[in-house]
Amino acid sequence: MVKGERDYRAHVLVLPYPAQGHINPTLQFAKRLVSKGLKATLVTTIFISKTIEIEPGPVGVEPISDGCDEAGYAEAGSVEAYLERLEAVSPRTLAELIDKQAQSGHPVSCLVYDSFLPWALDVAKGLGLTGASFFTQTCSVSAVHYHVYHGNLKVPVDVTKVTLPALPALGISDVPSFFSDARSCTGYMKLLLNQFSNLENADWVLFNTLDKLEEQMVKWMEERWRMITVGPTLPSVYLDKRLGGDENYSINLYKPDNAAAYMKWLDVKPTGSVVYVSFGSMAELSEERMEELAWGIKRSNKYFLWVVRETEKKKLPAKLIEDMKDKGIIVTWSKQIEVLAHEAVGCFVSHCGWNSTMEALCLGVPMVCMPQWTDQPTNAKFVVDIWGVGVRLKVDDKGIVRREEMESCIREVMEGERSEEIKRNAKKWKELSKEAMDEGGSSDKNIDEFVASLLKT
Ligand code: UDX
Repeated sequence: MVKGERDYRAHVLVLPYPAQGHINPTLQFAKRLVSKGLKATLVTTIFISKTIEIEPGPVGVEPISDGCDEAGYAEAGSVEAYLERLEAVSPRTLAELIDKQAQSGHPVSCLVYDSFLPWALDVAKGLGLTGASFFTQTCSVSAVHYHVYHGNLKVPVDVTKVTLPALPALGISDVPSFFSDARSCTGYMKLLLNQFSNLENADWVLFNTLDKLEEQMVKWMEERWRMITVGPTLPSVYLDKRLGGDENYSINLYKPDNAAAYMKWLDVKPTGSVVYVSFGSMAELSEERMEELAWGIKRSNKYFLWVVRETEKKKLPAKLIEDMKDKGIIVTWSKQIEVLAHEAVGCFVSHCGWNSTMEALCLGVPMVCMPQWTDQPTNAKFVVDIWGVGVRLKVDDKGIVRREEMESCIREVMEGERSEEIKRNAKKWKELSKEAMDEGGSSDKNIDEFVASLLKT
């Protein structure tokens, strides 16, 4: 290469909403772009960059201010207040970053922005860049939001069955939580509906899913936007060993426990014998729910690896947990993808956040669904009724999953009558996910098309 010549074909800035479930898929997507010969830079907030150590990796990382540099989200106090600050400050700081990149000889040609941050499209357009909205939730969930935004679905939903184009009929417990519960029609709902506020002006609309998971809905969306599926955005080593690269590179907002210890523990467990339990980065369980969950795991008599975040730990029933020590381990944050990829893991008790669900699908792990809020009930509906890779826990009239139900669902997935069928389906989705990201697969081709379009502009 001649001195001073660039070793990349175009520079893409990737801007996630600053939460774990958004950073993970956008970072992996950025890595994909790098593997296609582009330069990619992930934009974080100043608070995140100050509080965690980000190792250098294939994707550059640059911080901008979101107006909450000292304490992050907590500084604002509520979602509404946070969004207000973000929107007041970040259009300017983002534009300054784009300008800084040009000054330092790395002009940006495209901004991939989180669909939660629609104002970023105006920044991109104002500076003559291509703007691509990146959705971190499924097409199906996003379509429900779309219909609410356009007034086609009245909220709170007061019918027993919701029927919308290209979607299976959804019961009241299957729709995204903000639409079934009037009390939660707040800041988060605004965030979700705003995704559609100027989507028609986006040059591209990217979804972290694969076409076969939601075929009809993908077609429905393709008729509306220049929409492509680009998932699953998992580290390529789990899907396609040929890509290689720095696969450990992730940005964890939580410090993982000593992975060597629990991976060693997993290594000596029989294939498919361990229950992995995790509720992602945000969900909070009440003490009663936590106790029922612990009893359910104990009664199943299975080995377990359970993630309980530091802030949730105080809710654990201490004596019971002490009694369960010989069967499992509790950690505060795991390397989840490595855990799910381990052959000892036979079942994932999950809140059904989209990243966790997709990780389970890609790694062929059957699920026990315990959705908590937002998109999770709808994801659970698909896991059980459409993809056939798990069962959903029933709640009692207080909305609590009781220990007997937990025990019975874990057994159903791991050894019950439907277990073989569930495992077969899980294997099928694992293969289809890999196929989508393999060279020439549906998502891979879509990403190539996206990259090619950037090289023409
Ligand atoms: C939530 C939503 O439910 C999700 O669908 C939405 O798009 C973003 O907000 P979250 O609750 O964090 O996200 O769940 P999830 O989407 O599953 O993301 C959690 C991520 O953290 C996953 O990528 C998972 O692998 C990772 N994780 C979780 C760990 O690495 N270690 C853990 O111990 C737990």
